[in-house]
Amino acid sequence: MQAESGGLPEIEHRAADLVGRMTLEEKAALTVGRDAWTTISIERLGIPSIRLSDGPTGVRKVIAAPVIGLGTSVPATCFPTESCLGATWDVDLVREVGRAIGRECQATGVQVLLGPGVGLKRSPLCGRNFEYFSEDPALSGELAAAYIDGVQQEGVGTSLKHYVANECETDRLTSDSIVDERTLRELYLRPFEIAVTKAQPWTLMAAYSRLNGPYCTESRYLLRDLPEEWGYQGIFVSDWFAVDDRVASLAGGLHLQMPAAPTAQAVVDAVRDGRLDEAQLDALIRRLLAFILKADAARRPSTTVDFAAHHGLARRAAGEGMVLLKNEGGLLPLAGDSLAEIALLGAFAQEPRFQGAGSSQVNPTRVETLYDEATRLLGTAGHITFARGYDGDAPDPTLLQEAQETARHARAAVVIVGLPVSHDSEGGDRTSLDLPPSHNALVEAVLAVQPRTVVVLQSGAAVAMPWADRVPAIIQAWLGGQGGGGALADILLGRVSPSGKLGETFPARLEDTPAYLHYPDDGQGRAVFAEGLFTGYRWYDARKIEPLFPFGHGLSYTSFSYSNIELDRSTLLDTETLALSLTVRNTGRRAGREIVQIYVREQRPRLRRPEQELKAFASVMLEPGEARVVRFTLSRRDFAFFDPQANAWTVTAGTFDILAGASSREIRLRASVAVRATQPAARPHFDRYSRVETFMAYAEGRAFLGSRLSKALLGPETGEAEPETPASDEVASDPFLLSLPIGRLVVLGTLTEQEMQAIVDCLNADD
Ligand code: BGC
Repeated sequence: MQAESGGLPEIEHRAADLVGRMTLEEKAALTVGRDAWTTISIERLGIPSIRLSDGPTGVRKVIAAPVIGLGTSVPATCFPTESCLGATWDVDLVREVGRAIGRECQATGVQVLLGPGVGLKRSPLCGRNFEYFSEDPALSGELAAAYIDGVQQEGVGTSLKHYVANECETDRLTSDSIVDERTLRELYLRPFEIAVTKAQPWTLMAAYSRLNGPYCTESRYLLRDLPEEWGYQGIFVSDWFAVDDRVASLAGGLHLQMPAAPTAQAVVDAVRDGRLDEAQLDALIRRLLAFILKADAARRPSTTVDFAAHHGLARRAAGEGMVLLKNEGGLLPLAGDSLAEIALLGAFAQEPRFQGAGSSQVNPTRVETLYDEATRLLGTAGHITFARGYDGDAPDPTLLQEAQETARHARAAVVIVGLPVSHDSEGGDRTSLDLPPSHNALVEAVLAVQPRTVVVLQSGAAVAMPWADRVPAIIQAWLGGQGGGGALADILLGRVSPSGKLGETFPARLEDTPAYLHYPDDGQGRAVFAEGLFTGYRWYDARKIEPLFPFGHGLSYTSFSYSNIELDRSTLLDTETLALSLTVRNTGRRAGREIVQIYVREQRPRLRRPEQELKAFASVMLEPGEARVVRFTLSRRDFAFFDPQANAWTVTAGTFDILAGASSREIRLRASVAVRATQPAARPHFDRYSRVETFMAYAEGRAFLGSRLSKALLGPETGEAEPETPASDEVASDPFLLSLPIGRLVVLGTLTEQEMQAIVDCLNADD
């Protein structure tokens, strides 16, 4: 059973009492939504209805909508999408955004926000990458925990989604994600585990897809076993229309099916004919009621929202997430002469891409454009010209020529390009990394006449940049929310020093990407995660592939030095924590923020591990010349891997490198620590398929098999006497013998079935 929620004894008590007073029909009805966004109320018992709304870019409280479809929603602050927030690496900022969204939920009567998302960016093609933070589980998990904490501090629940491994949109309602246990544990489950253990989201959203067979909405492993292991106290809600079989989903452990569906009778029937245990249903209802009562009690209808302040926060967050990918010759910020005439080229300067398509779409309270904000900020200090440059995907010679003329006469050009809305969209995946031809044509046309060209990209994910080595300055501006235009103007004009760093690798070519050969599916409804642990930078590092821009990369208008890495010990028991510190100094002439990244590498792992893995990070704001000591703590999990054979997180004794970097490919400081394991390596489970070599690694195995194998090796037909010394060298060095499954010795007549079983049992007994 799942752990009982703690800390709310009164609500728990009321929930338990209510379950006892509900009819079977009422219980069944409560497990499915009343409509698209609310749960049912049961007036007779005083059970209230609560409202759930999307998430995660802001609140999307739908006012009028068809059963399926987006409809219109109440105006709300549209914050930067998660790929932009991910690039801030700033837990405090993300918490602040969460709090603001939580307040807007309270003001508009929403009890649960459907977000954040912690899918990992397995392929840059995933249409929903804009809704996810990163390709790295630690970065995703920490930012999600902060976001959840922020929203929930305001008395509003969250729904951490999509649980789990739904990393492509193609056939998402039927696709089966085939992922090995180690990869699941170390990558795809990990952000959920971090966020659950740190922030206890009130709900987790079971994904559309299947995981290794069962639907996520029916999987006991996901809905019962893991939550128990993690101490999860909340409930599971289905993604919208994700339930395939209501009775199977209840048996699996899903509490709430959304949206409304006529499935209650099926539940009643299943209990009546014994297919569903009523006690099990009661346990789910108790937990669901406790959640509903808690959400209802946390309502703060008199909450007021300072939309101007939230807009300011959205702009600041966008500014922190934008990534300066390249800045040759210090072209940026635009200053001095450049200001005399800046050509802004590209329709997005006036009609920005600022959010993705699908359920996360917010009705913004206002939208800033780069053109308006740059014009306003510049005032009389300079002059801005504009040309549209493109309209649609196909290059338009007239628009291109107009843009080229505008660029030719300017002192500097800013070309703003990106993906059309259909490419950053829920429900579909991209098939290439390419920008629309009209956008690439605009970059080329401008470059041909204006060497002082900055390219700004508005996209939720990485795109191909065939012109990257010829453009002096590039900014990844993401889908920056309603303040994105202003944030961009702040950066271009130097009011803000860029400080975002990539939470995802930007590949040089699609063919270099980890899932290239397997994405989105195998043509038989399966998404096979064949690259296993090696996704994101783990892949590029292992394959020694040079990405276009690496994970963790991002430049600034100032510079930073790293020095004095210190560990508090040189030898560490795996039960202890390691304190590490280093000094970062702003060596430039303006204030700026540096993101310090700590990677861990095991020098000689027992099983193959990634070259390095992000384990900690810090965001540090420094005035010119200022230095700060930055401290981190690493603990057992930061050194462990998930040993699939032992089915446990394991630390092997050995030397680990601690790498402090400004990006995954710019390691500035190193230190190492010898880790000593306090527990012996877990013994594998033995059966008839365990190899002879595995038995010979243990004293009991050697004692038992040695003489018998020597005999088998020398063979009775040689006529030689039985050797006196068992476990002879011949056995120990015979690769064929060592590789045999022990059951094969029974087939060969070396052991009887009983003898084999005896040694298998003997070694398992010592587990
Ligand atoms: C999406 C969820 C979303 C839900 C409700 C689904 O299509 O996958 O992320 O929260 O709809 O809009």
